[in-house]
Amino acid sequence: MKPIRSFLFIPGDSEKKIAKADATGADAIIFDLEDAVAMDNKAAARKLTAAALADRPPGKRVCQLWVRINPMDSGMAKDDLAAIIAGQPDGIMLPKANSPADVATLSQWLDAMEMESELDTGSVKILPLTTETAIAPFYLGEYASAGLTRLYGLTWGAEDLAAALGASTNLGADGTWAFTYKMVRSMCLMAAHASGVEAVETVYVDFRDSEGLRTACLAARSEGFSGRMAIHPAQVPVINEAFTPSEKEVAHAARVVAAFADNPGSGVVGLDGKMLDVPHLKAAQRVLAQAE
Ligand code: COA
Ligand code: MG
Repeated sequence: MKPIRSFLFIPGDSEKKIAKADATGADAIIFDLEDAVAMDNKAAARKLTAAALADRPPGKRVCQLWVRINPMDSGMAKDDLAAIIAGQPDGIMLPKANSPADVATLSQWLDAMEMESELDTGSVKILPLTTETAIAPFYLGEYASAGLTRLYGLTWGAEDLAAALGASTNLGADGTWAFTYKMVRSMCLMAAHASGVEAVETVYVDFRDSEGLRTACLAARSEGFSGRMAIHPAQVPVINEAFTPSEKEVAHAARVVAAFADNPGSGVVGLDGKMLDVPHLKAAQRVLAQAE
């Protein structure tokens, strides 16, 4: 399956923004019930999100529809799920996940709810935000052996972690992520690949800066992220393009795969005077999978 390039957040209580979902071109929408929704609006957001899903049943969707529920320890997560599950979301984003155990608990809730709603068991995927609490990064290495079959990928967040650390900023003097955030970002990237799932880059908050976004997306893809979260529709085309391999990359990848196919049983081949071995083949196959 082709990875999701863009996940666009839409506040679950915004009828106006929800109405724009289908025209944004995002590979996936995330209706947010968490931080983008004020406490007084939580109930309204559940209702509007459930209606948005019901209006777009599977088979009639122009993109995947995900829902970000409230955190496991908020006391709201189970009711969030119960309110929206009948609408058959493609996936659930879990914020402030402390460890794989949180994802396992969510998965068990989904097992039961899918059964009650007569949905296919295991059809709803999960994407946890794995670096939003102070303890969470210490558990990243455990995702790989946790047996979480619903896991779509792992993603990370810098805003809530800064709050959890009592930090006044998450940026360094040069304007890039401060060391702590670079560290957890890399750990999330490695944990995702160790788990055999997608690594999803965090949001780019300066939504008017499309050049900066493009540069950051290209860097993220070259490091092994396959997609990115967006907060504004203007970010979607930039992200989609940056996470789609160029024609040149696709052509080269096809030649790499062909070179191995021409030498069956060989773990190493030469192409254009360069040695290629199995990691190159895997990278080429990944590029072809990402391409249209
Ligand atoms: N989804 C759908 N439509 C959106 C949108 C989104 N995420 N963000 C903005 N739009 C719409 C606006 O409604 C506006 O429509 P209009 O032209 O009919 O008035 C248009 O796009 C242009 O919006 P703009 O004026 O540039 O931005 P804004 O000031 O209205 O909104 C934000 C800025 C950040 C509040 C808004 O983009 C947003 O709500 N983003 C998502 C926030 C979120 O969910 N965060 C949680 C995860 S971090
Ligand atoms: Mg948050």
